[in-house]
Amino acid sequence: MVSKCIIALDFPNQIIVNEFLKGFESKKLYLKVGMELYYSEGPSLLYSLKEKGHNIFLDLKLHDIPNTVKSAMKQIASLEVDMVNVHASGGKRMMYAAVEGLEIGARSKQRPLCVAVTQLTSTSQETLKNDILIDYSLEDAILKYASFAKESGLDGVVCSALEVPFLNKQLGLDFITVTPGIRTANSDVNDQVRVVSPGEAKVLGSTYIVVGRNITHAKYPLLTYENIVKEWQGI
Ligand code: C5P
Repeated sequence: MVSKCIIALDFPNQIIVNEFLKGFESKKLYLKVGMELYYSEGPSLLYSLKEKGHNIFLDLKLHDIPNTVKSAMKQIASLEVDMVNVHASGGKRMMYAAVEGLEIGARSKQRPLCVAVTQLTSTSQETLKNDILIDYSLEDAILKYASFAKESGLDGVVCSALEVPFLNKQLGLDFITVTPGIRTANSDVNDQVRVVSPGEAKVLGSTYIVVGRNITHAKYPLLTYENIVKEWQGI
C-alpha cells in the first residue's frame, strides 16, 4: 500500500522530477504536484506519474466563483488524480460546486478526495489579523472553515498538525487531515510557521503528512523519506 506520507514535488520541471524519483527505484509513492510543476508540465506529467503506479495529490488550491470552480473540477476529475483541493475562504457554495464538478467529471469512477485549505501553514495569528483582516483567533477561524468544508461535502482539510486534535474532536475522525509544515529535528523551518516533527504529527493524529524540502533537499532523499515514514508510523 502507498504510504500516507506525501512528498511535495516542488520542482520546476519533469527532468528534475525524473532525476529525483530515480533515487526511489520502484517504490510506489504518494506525490504532491503543485502549481509550479503543473503549470510548467501540465497533464502529461500526471499521466506519466500514474503510469509508474504513484498516487497524486494535485495541489492547485482552487479559489474562484462557484461555476468556474465546478467547471475546472470537471476537467481535473478526468485527470484521474487521487486528491485535489480548494481554499475554504472561497465559501460554502464554491466548495459544494467543487465536489459537484468532481462527481460529474469522474463519471462512474471514484472521484478524487477533495480537501480544503483552512489557513496556510505559513500564516501566523498576526498575518491573519493584519493582512487577511480576520479578527478571529487562528484556531477559531480554522475550525469554522473546516466545519464549512464538511457541511459542503468535502472529505477533509489541509491544516497544520497542531490543529488536528481539536478538528478530530469537533468534526470526527472520518474527516481527513492533510498536514504540511513537517520538519525533522534540527532542520530549517524555512517560510513555514506552524511546524511539527513527523512523530508529533502521528501523536496529534494527522491522516496524511506532506513533506517537501526535508526530503527534496536532503543529501539522501530515499533514506530521509524512509526515516520520516518510520518516525510517523511510530516504528
Ligand atoms: O518544503 P515544505 O515541506 O515546507 O513544503 C510544504 C508543501 O506543502 C509545499 O508544497 C506547500 O505549497 C504545501 N502547503 C503548505 N501549507 C498549506 C498547504 C500546502 O505548506 N496549508
